Amino acid sequence: MTWTYFKRYRMEIALQQRELVEPPAPPGYSFLPWREDLLDIHARVKHLSFRGEIDAQIFPCFLDENSCRRLMLAIVRKPGFLPQATWLAVFSYQVEGKIYQEYCGTIQGIYDAETRMGSIQNVGVIPGHRDRGIGQGLLYRCLRGFQQAGADRVSLEVTAENEGAIRLYRRVGFEIMRTVYKVAELPSAR
Ligand SMILES: CC(C)(COP(=O)(O)OP(=O)(O)OC[C@H]1O[C@@H](n2cnc3c(N)ncnc32)[C@H](O)[C@@H]1OP(=O)(O)O)[C@@H](O)C(=O)NCCC(=O)NCCS
Repeated sequence: MTWTYFKRYRMEIALQQRELVEPPAPPGYSFLPWREDLLDIHARVKHLSFRGEIDAQIFPCFLDENSCRRLMLAIVRKPGFLPQATWLAVFSYQVEGKIYQEYCGTIQGIYDAETRMGSIQNVGVIPGHRDRGIGQGLLYRCLRGFQQAGADRVSLEVTAENEGAIRLYRRVGFEIMRTVYKVAELPSAR
């Protein structure tokens, strides 16, 4: 195994006096607020969104659905877990009169009421549902939840190579505040 450093950015958005108007959901998509019985679905969507991505090299827990479930449990048990900043995206469609649903995006939020600082845990959209505005829809709904809770600012961390995610965060209003390095153990090349 070899140790590798991944460059990551801490990005932040100020919420004071920011008007957050959620973009309308694309046709067929809707956003479900947090409910405890959705925990396993959040975990599965997290796994399916991250498993082929750069972040799964840094955080191997994304590679396994059970580990994602443990991660979800750890998030919802944190004292600052904020249900209104935690959303699931779902795509509904009809075939021969029967309605089917595909869960396709997840975001979770933690809030520190003392510092009035929110933090986004993971935002992920399953590959077949990307580039339709679902990531942006999840972010807006999450940020509205933080705003309603009284947050002044919200932060997240993103891997520098993850250019699509950084473009999305900038579009919504996040700015890079500082660079951090995360060390991860990778299998050595033979
Ligand atoms: C990052 C991620 C959440 C973005 O999700 P997404 O649903 O594709 O995000 P959006 O659709 O809102 O935006 C993505 C692109 O689609 C475009 N888009 C939005 N609506 C669109 C539409 N209706 N038609 C066509 N394109 C559209 C956006 O303009 C954006 O374009 P860009 O890449 O040129 O900037 C997703 O790629 C993902 O899950 N990646 C793996 C996990 C990960 O790395 N998460 C971030 C961890 S920090």
